[in-house]
Amino acid sequence: MSLDADDPRPYKEDLTPEQMLEVIFDYTAKIAGEKKLQNVLVLMANMGREMVVADRCTVWLIDALRGELFTVVAHGVEEIRIPYGSGLVGAAICSGEPIFIDDAYFDERHNSDNDRKTGYRTKAIMTIPFRNNEGEIIGAYQAINKLTNAEVFSKQDLEYLSLAAAYSGKSLESVMLNDEIMETQKEIIFTMGEIGESRSQETGHHVRRVAQYSYFLALGLGLSEREADLLRSASPMHDIGKVAIPDAILHKPDKLTVEEFEHMKTHTLIGYQLMRNSRRELLQAAATIALQHHEKWDGSGYPQGLKGEEIHLYGRITAVADVFDALGSARVYKPAWELERIIRLFDEERGRHFDPRVVDAFMKMLPQMLEVRDREADVSSDHAHNPADFG
Ligand code: C2E
Ligand code: SIN
Ligand code: SIN
Ligand code: FE
Ligand code: FE
Repeated sequence: MSLDADDPRPYKEDLTPEQMLEVIFDYTAKIAGEKKLQNVLVLMANMGREMVVADRCTVWLIDALRGELFTVVAHGVEEIRIPYGSGLVGAAICSGEPIFIDDAYFDERHNSDNDRKTGYRTKAIMTIPFRNNEGEIIGAYQAINKLTNAEVFSKQDLEYLSLAAAYSGKSLESVMLNDEIMETQKEIIFTMGEIGESRSQETGHHVRRVAQYSYFLALGLGLSEREADLLRSASPMHDIGKVAIPDAILHKPDKLTVEEFEHMKTHTLIGYQLMRNSRRELLQAAATIALQHHEKWDGSGYPQGLKGEEIHLYGRITAVADVFDALGSARVYKPAWELERIIRLFDEERGRHFDPRVVDAFMKMLPQMLEVRDREADVSSDHAHNPADFG
């Protein structure tokens, strides 16, 4: 539409305070229930447009990786991208200051190419950068053309849109984080798959069994189904740091030298570093488990030499699950142990390597553990498992 004198459409009125509250309550409720970034952007733009009675409103976000600004105009369909510093949005984002102009055609920062193509007449523009919780600028609100008879935005509009911008900065950050973490998670799971395929023979079935063992140990300890389930999802990543260990060490068919074992120990820290930056509960748990699954109850473990309950319960549980599986499986460096020998080790190490309560849970849940072991047994033929061992 245009704002020319012959425009048949009547001017609109500014919102009354009651209408303003209604718009804010309506949209914030909708936005809070929305998880998809694209939909959130559209809702925020619509909220801003109604608040300041603009013809158009856009919420722009910075894509730092690509050096671009992007937005979505209609429901999730089309993403628009412009170079980082371009136009009035770019200027507002670079300077960190709002831009407030009555007629864009008298401002050289405005790029009117688009108007020439579409016949739209951009006149009043209000652009407000917004920040995340750390105070970094992550995007900008831009409202175009005021639909009241003033035809320009007022100081009050600036305040209203700033309010929307402040709210949006904080909400968008968590939505973007969510998106980013989903991506990270997919990547990690994908990487896990790859390791299972190629890097380490032990990984594929080992991680599946450790997951199930951890789940049953958690239940045996009286943890909730929800927590047991979290542990089952997080524990498969306990050895993810082994991606960084050279094949010569990982696949050495012999005992490791002292230096090699020192190198091997870093798989705990590496796994932790890969996952610790996530705020997601699952990856947080996985990071802790990666870091602590080789700690020992008596303080003689690694990497930190934590003792007793200094070790997170998830770490103590995964330690039992991991060793139970490692002992019962053939490794390149050792054959599988028989069940009696494994149980004897857990008895001896109760209160030394392992949390006594977790060992008790292990004994209690042994039938379930053995069922998992049979179900998820390795089909690899080049290791002769003791048949008695697998009953
Ligand atoms: P992994 O094979 O998954 O073993 C996990 C843990 O199970 C070991 O942690 C250890 O606590 C226990 N475990 C495994 N095999 C035995 C065993 O024969 N006897 C006893 N008493 N415990 C056993 P640890 O020792 O910190 O080792 C971490 C990882 O380092 C192992 O994971 C494995 O990938 C590697 N590794 C350890 N020792 C050797 C070795 O002599 N040769 C090779 N090639 N790799 C080794
Ligand atoms: C736009 O309005 O679509 C971006 C360009 C500008 O801010 O001038
Ligand atoms: C294991 O379960 O870790 C042993 C797998 C194999 O050596 O084939
Ligand atoms: Fe490990
Ligand atoms: Fe392991």
